[in-house]
Amino acid sequence: MKQQLLKKFEEVFGDADGVKVYFAPGRVNLIGEHTDYNGGHVFPCALTIGTYAAARVRNDDKLRLYSMNFAETGIGESTLADIEKKTDGDWRNYPKGVIWAFGQKGFKVDKGLDIVFNGNIPNGSGLSSSASLEVLTGFILKEIFGFDVSNQDLALIGQFSENKYNGVNCGIMDQFAVAMGRENSAIFLDTADLSYEYAPISLDGAKIVILNTNKKRGLGDSKYNERRSECEAALASLQTKLDIKSLGELTEEEFEANKQLIGDDVKIKRAKHAVYENQRTIKAVKALKDNDLELFGKLMIASHDSLRDDYEVTGIELDTLVAEALKQNGVIGARMTGAGFGGCAVSIVKTECVDSFIENVGKAYKEKIGYAADFYVVEIGGGPKVI
Ligand code: GLA
Repeated sequence: MKQQLLKKFEEVFGDADGVKVYFAPGRVNLIGEHTDYNGGHVFPCALTIGTYAAARVRNDDKLRLYSMNFAETGIGESTLADIEKKTDGDWRNYPKGVIWAFGQKGFKVDKGLDIVFNGNIPNGSGLSSSASLEVLTGFILKEIFGFDVSNQDLALIGQFSENKYNGVNCGIMDQFAVAMGRENSAIFLDTADLSYEYAPISLDGAKIVILNTNKKRGLGDSKYNERRSECEAALASLQTKLDIKSLGELTEEEFEANKQLIGDDVKIKRAKHAVYENQRTIKAVKALKDNDLELFGKLMIASHDSLRDDYEVTGIELDTLVAEALKQNGVIGARMTGAGFGGCAVSIVKTECVDSFIENVGKAYKEKIGYAADFYVVEIGGGPKVI
C-alpha cells in the first residue's frame, strides 16, 4: 500500500520527495448503539482496514487533495484562506473540516498540503470511513506541524469538525474508536465522561465477521439527527421530575417507573432503547470478562431487536442479513452496527463455520433482497500511525 501511494503521489504531484505515508483505521462497534449521544456506554474496536495517505507540506497556502477512491473527482485545489468554502457532496469536506477545526481550537495550519488518500473501508457502510479520514487528517497535521494534541484530542477535534463543519450531529464513538484503537482489544467507553478501559478480545475459536448490506447510506441523509432530537425531547420530559443529565444515567427500573413523563409513545420507545442498550453494553462487557461468549452473543441479538423495534433504524436489508445469520450453525451473535439504515451488521461466528456461514447467508440475502451482500472476516487493529 505504501509503495502504491508513493507512486500515485508522484504521478499526481510530480515527485514524491519528502513524502510520508500515514494510516488510520476504520471501526466496528460490537455493542452499544445510539448510546454515545445519550451519555451511555459503547464498545467499539478499531480494524486493520482503514485509510492511508501520502502527504507533504507546501510552502504556500494551497491545498491539493486527491483520493484514489474518488479518482473521478480529480485534484481538488483550494486554499487555506478559503477553508470555510464547502462543495456539496465532496469527500474533501472531511479533511477540510478537520483543518478548519484545528484552527478553531487554536492550532493554526499556516502552510498548504498535498495529499493522496486511499482507503480500503467500503464507503458509507457504517465502518466509519469518514471518522477514519478525519482522524487521519488530524494525525497528519499533528505530525507535520508538531501540534501538541493527544490521540483523544484528535477524536474530539474530528467529532467537532463533523458536527460543525459537516453538519452531522454524531456522537464521539467513531472518532474515539479510530484514534484510540488498540490491537486485539475493544474499547469500553463511557461517553458521559470519556473514561475508558481496553478489554482484550480473545475470541477463542471464533471470528468477527462483518456483513455488508451494500445498501449505501450517509448520516446526512439518514434519520440520525431526528433520532437524536427525539432522545433529547424524551430526556427533557424526564428532567421535569428526575435530576439526571442524560438517559445513560437511568437503570431499566428507573426508566420504567418514570417513562410516562415522556407522554409520547414513539419517544418512549426511543428513550427505552437508549436506556436498555446502555445497560446491555455494561452487561456484555462483564460477560466477556467472565468468558461468557454465549451471553455476549445473546445481548448482541437483543441489541438488534431493540434497534429494529424500538429505535427503528434497521430496515429490511439489515433485518434480513441478521435473521439469516442467526439461522446458521456456529453463530454466537449478530446485530446491525453503526448508525443503521443500511450499512453493515457484525457477527461472531465459530471459526470452523465461517465458510458455510458466508455461503449460506450470502445466498439467502441475494434471493430475498435481489443483490449480493459482502462479507469481511476482520482483525482488531491499532490506532493512527506513520507507516
Ligand atoms: C454513527 C455515529 C456515532 C454513533 C453511531 C450509532 O456511527 O457517528 O456517533 O451515534 O452512529 O451508535
